[in-house]
Amino acid sequence: MRHFPITIATYLLTVCLFDVVLYGNLINNVTKSGKTVSGKKSFVAMLFSTNVTAIKPNSTQKEMCRWLRGLRHQDKICKKKEGLPQLLEETKKLAVSSCVELFQYEQWNCSKTTIKNYFKSVYRETALMYSLATSALMYVISRACAEGKLTNCKCASHGRSDNISKWDWGGCGDNTKYAKKLTKHFLQLRKKGDSPNNVMKYNSEVGMKVVLQHKVKECQCHGISKSCTYKTCFMRIRPFREIASTLWQLYHTAIPVESDNNIRYLKQHRKRNLVYLENSPNFCNPRGAFGVTTTGRRCKDINNCATLCCTRKHVNVTEVFADHCNCRWKHESKFEVDCEKCYREEVFYYCL
Ligand SMILES: *[C@@H]1O[C@H](CO)[C@@H](O)[C@H](O)[C@H]1NC(C)=O
Ligand SMILES: *[C@@H]1O[C@H](CO)[C@@H](O)[C@H](O)[C@H]1NC(C)=O
Ligand SMILES: *[C@@H]1O[C@H](CO)[C@@H](O)[C@H](O)[C@H]1NC(C)=O
Ligand SMILES: *[C@@H]1O[C@H](CO)[C@@H](O)[C@H](O)[C@H]1NC(C)=O
Ligand SMILES: *[C@@H]1O[C@H](CO)[C@@H](O)[C@H](O)[C@H]1NC(C)=O
Repeated sequence: MRHFPITIATYLLTVCLFDVVLYGNLINNVTKSGKTVSGKKSFVAMLFSTNVTAIKPNSTQKEMCRWLRGLRHQDKICKKKEGLPQLLEETKKLAVSSCVELFQYEQWNCSKTTIKNYFKSVYRETALMYSLATSALMYVISRACAEGKLTNCKCASHGRSDNISKWDWGGCGDNTKYAKKLTKHFLQLRKKGDSPNNVMKYNSEVGMKVVLQHKVKECQCHGISKSCTYKTCFMRIRPFREIASTLWQLYHTAIPVESDNNIRYLKQHRKRNLVYLENSPNFCNPRGAFGVTTTGRRCKDINNCATLCCTRKHVNVTEVFADHCNCRWKHESKFEVDCEKCYREEVFYYCL
């Protein structure tokens, strides 16, 4: 039932004429040549647009890093550091699934078909992807250290306890210190770069700051039947979902920058905005962005249709779902139940 009626496509032709007039001159100068904006391959672009080499039980470290071919620096570290290939796979899953989830009801839905175009400049979306990927990597490494999944790192060392409070540092904390160091090294964030590179680096740094912002003290109770007369605490990062949600807010307040001076200013004033270089591609012109339109996309609700479908209309599709209901025991001893079927209708809205 999720299929979109093809016949509606004809309707579009008429709407298109209107769109040409309205949006024709708003089409951004987005089509820059070159692979990525800096003319080089980037790890984040690869993370979002390439398949990670499937990890099999007998894969060698070299094989597991094969997807990083062409990225000399990252490939070298990946091959050397035991446990890292698995973490990179985990990072990809986190970053990509967060992107898809966050953009589910946006004009651009983080789809694989268009994602490469987003690395030809630094759009608002690109900025978010850089910060998502960086925070995912730092998050995954921090956890891995605490869980003993990565060589050369372990639980975070804690601060000194005071003798006033009824708690003490203990247990195993997420190692953000090590994770930040490795993330910076892996993503070459210390390296001096050209202007677009500095924009991407800045967004990565925002990602790392947001991870640290989500570090909280977690405590375990001790004492007779957990009476909590004594507690041990460690620092733990909140679930990645919360980090992604903060970055999503920063995406909405992202600001355009023109030069490195703008970034220097933001750094000096300890700002935490995501930054971008070019306005986002416009999906509302008749040919869509990169040949993709929002036709056939499902809206979250009617209000969402108003933006998701551009100026086009939407269709309401009623789907019927069958649920089990009014269940009763048939033979209690045999654990058999007898249920009725109840039907439930739900309306979905799709862009024309
Ligand atoms: C990437 O993986 C998907 C699904 O696993 C597959 O359909 C696609 O062909 C793969 N792409 C490449 C370039 O290998
Ligand atoms: C890994 O093991 C599978 C069977 O367990 C085998 O088919 C495959 O060829 C092996 N791969 C390598 C690279 O040894
Ligand atoms: C994104 O939207 C396109 C249509 O524009 C659709 O084909 C694709 O399946 C969607 N992807 C996801 C991840 O929802
Ligand atoms: C904590 O205890 C140590 C010695 O046991 C003492 O030197 C120190 O002053 C105490 N700190 C506080 C804040 O009470
Ligand atoms: C779709 O449903 C909404 C409310 O559920 C209603 O306002 C709208 O008129 C309906 N549109 C069509 C084309 O039936």
